[in-house]
Amino acid sequence: MIVGIPKEVKKDEHRVGMRPVGAEVLVRDGHTVLVQAGAGHGAGFEDEQFVAAGATIVTDAAQVWGKADLVVKVKEPQPQEVKLIRDGQAVFTYFHFAADKDLTIGCLERKCVSCAYETLTDDRGYLPLLTPMSEVAGKLSVQEGAKYLEKPFGGKGVLLGGVPGVEPGHVLIIGGGVVGTCAAQMAAGLGAQVVILDVNLDRLRRLDEFMPANVITMYSDPEAIRVRLAWADLIIGAVLVPGAKAPRLIRREDLKFIHPGSVIVDVAIDQGGCVETARVTTHSDPVYTVDGVVHYCVGNMPGAVARSSTLALTNATLPWAVKLARYGPHRLAQMDHHFANAINTDRGRLTNQAVAEAHDLEFAGAVA
Ligand SMILES: NC(=O)c1ccc[n+]([C@@H]2O[C@H](COP(=O)([O-])OP(=O)(O)OC[C@H]3O[C@@H](n4cnc5c(N)ncnc54)[C@H](O)[C@@H]3O)[C@@H](O)[C@H]2O)c1
Repeated sequence: MIVGIPKEVKKDEHRVGMRPVGAEVLVRDGHTVLVQAGAGHGAGFEDEQFVAAGATIVTDAAQVWGKADLVVKVKEPQPQEVKLIRDGQAVFTYFHFAADKDLTIGCLERKCVSCAYETLTDDRGYLPLLTPMSEVAGKLSVQEGAKYLEKPFGGKGVLLGGVPGVEPGHVLIIGGGVVGTCAAQMAAGLGAQVVILDVNLDRLRRLDEFMPANVITMYSDPEAIRVRLAWADLIIGAVLVPGAKAPRLIRREDLKFIHPGSVIVDVAIDQGGCVETARVTTHSDPVYTVDGVVHYCVGNMPGAVARSSTLALTNATLPWAVKLARYGPHRLAQMDHHFANAINTDRGRLTNQAVAEAHDLEFAGAVA
C-alpha cells in the first residue's frame, strides 16, 4: 500500500501524523511511504530523518493525496485538502464530523473511507486515540494557567508553588476525568493546593486513592463551585458529558465571586466550554479578560506543544496505522469492531449514527 503523510495546513497546527520511526515500521512491512516536504518540521522531525527511515519525500500535498491509498494526518481535512481526496481513499485522522456539516458532505461526495481517531473505541469503553491529547491538554492547562497568573501576563501575580513562609496557589479543577487528573497531578507537583470537583462519586473515590495529600476531591454542585470560585487562583474547566455540549457550570454572574487577576483555563471549550463567558481563542491570541478574570480558551491546546503531542498521538495511532496498511479499512473493520467504530463515512455512505443525527442526514448503517 502507498501511505501518505501530508503537512498539516490548519492554522497554528505543527503536529504531524507520523514520525520517522512509523515510516520505518511501514516500509519494513513492505509499504511505500510518501511524506510531504517539511511535514515533520514543526514537531522537530526533518525530511532527512524520514528519508533515513525509508520514506520518499514529495514536494507538495497534491502528490501525497494523488498517490496514497491511505493518508495519515492529525487535524480534520481542510477545504483545500477535501478537494484532493480520491474515491476509495482511506483517511485516518481526527474528523469531528458532528461539528462540521460541510466536511461531512465533502467527505461523502469525495467517497473516501473516513477513519476517525475520535470514534475508535477499546474494550473498556474509552476512546484511546483521544486520551493522549486530553493528557497533554490537562498538563498544559496548569502550565498555561501558571503563566497567565504572572503579573506581566495580566494575572494577579501568584506563584502556584508558593515558597517557604508563603502559601501556595489554589487550583480548582472542575471535572476529574483524563484532563482533570493530569491537571491535578501537574498542579500538585508544583506544590499548589488542588481541589477536584466531579459528579461521578466512583471517579472521586478512585482519585482519592492515588492523589497526593495536597489534592482533595469534592462532589460537584452549584454551591461547591460557588464557594471554591472565591478560593481559587486558577480554575480549570475539564468536564465532558459524552455526546453533548459542555454544561455551563460557571455563569456570567458567578464571575463576581472570582478575584480579579485569577485565571480560567476552559479546556472544555472544544465542546462549547463550561464557562458562560468563554469563547474560542487561538495560540496566537490565547487570552482575554472579563470582569478582571483572565480567560484562556484555546480550542486545540496540544498544538502548542507539537513535539510532545506528536509523540503522544503517534504512540497511540501507529499500531492502528500499521494494521490499516496491512489489511485495508474494510478487512480490518471485519476483524476488529473497535476499528469499525472509527469508520464514519464509507465511499459515499454515512456510517456513524451520531453524525447523521447531528446533521439530519441519512444513516446508512454502521460498518460491520
Ligand atoms: N481544548 C483542547 O485542546 C482540548 C484537548 C483535549 C480535550 N479537551 C476537552 O476537555 C474536556 C474533558 O475531556 P476528558 O478527556 O478529561 O473527558 P473525561 O470524560 O475523561 O472526563 C470528564 C469528566 O467530567 C465529569 N463531569 C461531567 N459533568 C460534570 C459536572 N457537572 N461537574 C463536574 N464534573 C463533571 C465527568 O464525570 C468526567 O469525570 C472535553 O470537553 C474534551 O473535549 C479539550
